[in-house]
Amino acid sequence: MTSVDAIIERLGATRTCDAGLTKDPWAFDTTKPSYGPGASALDMIPRNAPRQQPLGKEYTEASDEELQERIIDAKHKLGSKLLILGHFYQRDEIIVHADYVGDSFQLSKNAATRPEADNIVFCGVHFMAETADILSTPRQNVILPNMSAGCSMADMANIDQVTDCWEQLTDICGSTPDADGKQQIIPVTYMNSSAALKAFCGRNGGIVCTSSNARAVLEWAFERGKRVLFFPDQHLGRNTALAMGMSLDQMPLWDPFKANGGATPEQYANAKMILWKGFCSVHQRFTVEQIERARKAYPGVKVIVHPECSMDVVNAADGTGSTAYIVKEIENAPAGSAIAVGTEINLVNRLAAQHPDKTVFCLDPVVCPCSTMYRIHPAYLAWVLENLVDGKVVNKIVVDPQTASEAKIALDRMLRVHP
Ligand code: 13P
Ligand code: SF4
Repeated sequence: MTSVDAIIERLGATRTCDAGLTKDPWAFDTTKPSYGPGASALDMIPRNAPRQQPLGKEYTEASDEELQERIIDAKHKLGSKLLILGHFYQRDEIIVHADYVGDSFQLSKNAATRPEADNIVFCGVHFMAETADILSTPRQNVILPNMSAGCSMADMANIDQVTDCWEQLTDICGSTPDADGKQQIIPVTYMNSSAALKAFCGRNGGIVCTSSNARAVLEWAFERGKRVLFFPDQHLGRNTALAMGMSLDQMPLWDPFKANGGATPEQYANAKMILWKGFCSVHQRFTVEQIERARKAYPGVKVIVHPECSMDVVNAADGTGSTAYIVKEIENAPAGSAIAVGTEINLVNRLAAQHPDKTVFCLDPVVCPCSTMYRIHPAYLAWVLENLVDGKVVNKIVVDPQTASEAKIALDRMLRVHP
């Protein structure tokens, strides 16, 4: 039984966000790009999104038990030269094989500090594997078990759109530093973005942030610039800027599908934070009504949410932070307490199972995993590992050297701000 089936069974859930949720991911490996069923199944997918080559029957027809045994066997044969990284949102049947489980920031650091591993198998999504490739040594291979494990939010900003936005904002705000030597605009990209956008930040005096260091990174940016262009997640940008004391009228949106971004030149000129109109389909499902329902059903419940949730949800919650923060909060909560969580269901379900002395539940009653993480099924993990055993590297993620070196500038700035 896959973890999604187990979650549906455990919760007795009557609603899932997609009827295809319990199908195997290769049912969606078609000629058209797709993320498979889940919260972002209906999002726009770039036409050039990578496709996964079809798996052979020896993988798609293998039983769950057989796949688990084959993964263990291949892992044993590959020994310490193999490092398997798993993001918190990953399926349980993948997480059991991970050498290290963490949030996107912890995983990228882990990849950077394990030079002895020849092969880093990244059970996350495409932008995370790209980051691992940039931060690891050139002789290491970074492998994404399913090529179509993208991130719909990361795909909401591409380099052409950001370059166009930058040129228009530079026309409005100018490009010469002010009297204090501050840059007119500092570009800040969320880790959930392509390597090309990280490189854009690297060559334009900008920086990368994750949900665990967004505030420290923005402080760094405002020491050096008058304004920030923040992409692709409007919510992380808005929530962090509000917590730093900025007001909503200082944060116009830039909509790449509207003429001139959709706001007036004056609004952009007077802005402190210009927010790209991107979002996460998983986190935008959480609502204030869900929080109110949880508070009624569990008086005294603590509500914690990821900062990719909307401002209203973050304001109505008791705490907000990265996946690592959410894990810690639940670990530290006293026995007997109730915690309602606004983040991806695989993580919430795992935390509930790990803490049977606490009531841990997801705010959203509809079972809806991150459809991109969902693409990494054990069949794909077995396939990449068995190929490695045979001396073949499949699904290697390679960032071209120019992009990698510029992206590394922006990543290194982040690692210096928040080691
Ligand atoms: P973290 O940085 O908290 O791991 O979140 C990554 C992510 O993709 C959340 O949707
Ligand atoms: Fe991307 Fe949202 Fe999935 Fe995170 S949860 S990887 S932001 S689609």
